Amino acid sequence: MLNFESFNPTKVLFGKEQYSKLTREIKQFTAKNKILIAYGGGSIIRSGLLDKVKSELNDFEIVEFGGIEANPEYDTLMKAVELCRKEQIDFILAVGGGSVIDGIKFVAGAVNYNGEPWDVLIRKDGCVFRSAVAFGTILTLPATGSESNSGAVISNSRLQEKRTMGGPLFFPKFSILDPTLLSTVPPRQVANGIADAYMHTLEQYLTVPTTNYLQEYEAEAVLKTLIKIAPGVIKDPSDYDLAANLYYCANHALNGNLKNGVPTDWSTHMIGHELTALYGIDHARTLAIICPRLYEHTFDRKKEKLERYAKEVWNITGGNAAREAIEKTESFFQSLGIETRLSAYTQDYEKAPQIVKDRFIERNWNYLGENQLITPEDAYEIVRSCF
Ligand code: NZQ
Ligand code: ZN
Repeated sequence: MLNFESFNPTKVLFGKEQYSKLTREIKQFTAKNKILIAYGGGSIIRSGLLDKVKSELNDFEIVEFGGIEANPEYDTLMKAVELCRKEQIDFILAVGGGSVIDGIKFVAGAVNYNGEPWDVLIRKDGCVFRSAVAFGTILTLPATGSESNSGAVISNSRLQEKRTMGGPLFFPKFSILDPTLLSTVPPRQVANGIADAYMHTLEQYLTVPTTNYLQEYEAEAVLKTLIKIAPGVIKDPSDYDLAANLYYCANHALNGNLKNGVPTDWSTHMIGHELTALYGIDHARTLAIICPRLYEHTFDRKKEKLERYAKEVWNITGGNAAREAIEKTESFFQSLGIETRLSAYTQDYEKAPQIVKDRFIERNWNYLGENQLITPEDAYEIVRSCF
């Protein structure tokens, strides 16, 4: 088992009607009576959630910032930064999916930053966020785990870039996970949530055999639960127990627990982010496109773990089990209604692989994956094989 450090200060309030605790939680982090509520394109207005949340916050003056897009945009977020500065906000409540929560992590860091915050995202020398405004979240779409981790992914469509940020400052103070909120999520986004959570688990599991037996079983439990609930929860997201299992799985997949004491991969995500930056493909769908081809490309190195995955998760044994496990994974994504070929999203056959390769070289991302053996050249081949 590898050495590890584990730290997660986010308080999770899980279940129905936890909103009554909002005032109690927020008051621990602000002495003021003014807070910002941030949200996305309006689903929380249509569902009535915004009114419900505001009715719990009578003690506070509410400033609102709506319009954070899926794949949150730098320019939009900078408007929220300006608003926080003008209103002297010291607590933000993010109500939404991964995009709103990620966006607010960036805003929280940028508010007190003297300089161009984009420099932090591109990791320009010496540019880091040194403080963050306190924030909490109400998660409306279980997928990314952002509600319980300290990472964020920010897009800049002017530059066709998607950049990551994070660090201990960016854990939410608390997160409310109310599975009844899944009932208004469209099937496409429920499918994305399942695929993203599945892939987060695979990135931390499908590497090489390890001696961290607990971690291996735990990852397999998340994968098996997602497979079990997928058809039902897409059909009926208002089924409370199915929704609660999806919320719990997605949270567990990326709250930092599954990485303890094991090697991790993340190359599917790093390549996938480029496809969203270039073509606007939903995050989870980029993963379903890249993963099967990446596992084929790295087959020899992953074969042993693929065999275990085949046996424990898909109940497949025999000489061809590792290959069959890749096929099963791809069929699972397809069963969610997700196209797994890049040609279903773009015809940019030459440009896509080349840009991914050039960008990886430009950023010095010369070695990705659990063995640090995926080079920009490999990324080129993987993307090419996705068409
Ligand atoms: O914007 P609104 O109107 O709220 O609509 C959203 C959006 O259109 C809608 N939605 C969310 N909750 C809803 C709902 N519609 C009806 N009822 C509800 N209860 O769903 C759409 C997608 O929302 P979004 O937040 O973009 O989805 P997701 O949670 O999948 O987040 C994706 C973003 O997270 C990043 C991705 O790169 C992407 O930018 N990620 C963040 C990670 C992290 N912080 O740890 C890890 C992930 O790997 C990922 O990279
Ligand atoms: Zn993801």
